[in-house]
Amino acid sequence: MRIAVTGASGRLGRAILAALADAPFTGISGPLAWSRPDYDLDDVGAAARLIARDQPEVIVHAAAWTDVDGCARQPEIAQRRNAEAVVRLSEAAAGSGTDLILISTNEVFDGRRTDGLGYRLDDRPNPINTYGSSKLAGEAAAATAYAWTPDGASAHGSSPASGPALAIVRTAWLYGPPGNDFPEKIARAGEHARAAGESLRVVGDETGSPTFTADLADAIVELIGCGERFAGIHHVVNGGAATRAAWARAALAGLAIDVPIMEVPGSTWTRASTPPAWAVLEPTRMPSGEPLRPWTAALADYLPALRRQLAVRPGVGAAVR
Ligand SMILES: NC(=O)c1ccc[n+]([C@@H]2O[C@H](COP(=O)([O-])OP(=O)(O)OC[C@H]3O[C@@H](n4cnc5c(N)ncnc54)[C@H](OP(=O)(O)O)[C@@H]3O)[C@@H](O)[C@H]2O)c1
Repeated sequence: MRIAVTGASGRLGRAILAALADAPFTGISGPLAWSRPDYDLDDVGAAARLIARDQPEVIVHAAAWTDVDGCARQPEIAQRRNAEAVVRLSEAAAGSGTDLILISTNEVFDGRRTDGLGYRLDDRPNPINTYGSSKLAGEAAAATAYAWTPDGASAHGSSPASGPALAIVRTAWLYGPPGNDFPEKIARAGEHARAAGESLRVVGDETGSPTFTADLADAIVELIGCGERFAGIHHVVNGGAATRAAWARAALAGLAIDVPIMEVPGSTWTRASTPPAWAVLEPTRMPSGEPLRPWTAALADYLPALRRQLAVRPGVGAAVR
């Protein structure tokens, strides 16, 4: 199977490429890595050109402008990269009979849920920031290109019985190689605070689904492997939920960095973008029936690699939110 991955050098893109390299259906030549300069979200002809050149059977679209504060400051660029680029990609892909897996985000929801449950497929998207609304516009563009029909009052639709398939995979709070993620920033800031004899201030009023890119990548490979049954919206996250402070505590404990944490509200820092306070997704059922493991187990698996990374890239930490 010829599978192309956009954003191939990003955090998730590289994990998907690694997972696909081990998949039995990928073939000897391996997956196609589409990244800049060949695939640029600002290049209006790039998607059609690459599809004609490489003729993939499946595209995983992991590229996006993920700088949420940048999106808030420059909404027209967010719209161009996270929505208009998806219009072009999904129209070219659907037109050539190519299946598409579009990576999306919990930030399509407003985060105002207060019943302790994760967002489900039948919850109505209602983004509260530009990044979320640009990603939601990308979802809508892909649904139109793949001729999804609205599915009653719910937020999801369904593909026609024949023709190429579209899957929208929403996820949240990603971390993983090559680092510079929340656990690494916490570790560096924790070391810094410990050295200064201070406590580490971490946001206590944002809760989400921390998700290890390696686990998400394996799940995406599982979806591709199950064929056309992958069509539809999926919520794919590690199990459980954590506040940023709880996530930080688990990372620091696993790295044996002994520093007290002071929980502070997110409003302590001024940001261009407003993050949803409740960034928790209820995982949808995977084809195998096997949910992703709990976030605590996934984090524990990642920490040895992070510890090695901290040793070879020592640096001074900064305040973390
Ligand atoms: N990070 C999260 O917590 C999170 C949560 C939910 C959903 N998501 C979604 O997951 C997907 C992957 O995110 P990630 O965490 O892997 O982010 P990332 O590390 O920032 O990767 C984004 C990728 O998009 C590429 N990209 C950015 N601007 C581009 C442009 N103008 N033209 C071409 N490529 C461009 C980047 O290319 P370069 O490497 O060349 O910069 C990079 O490869 C995105 O769709 C994101 O919306 C992320």
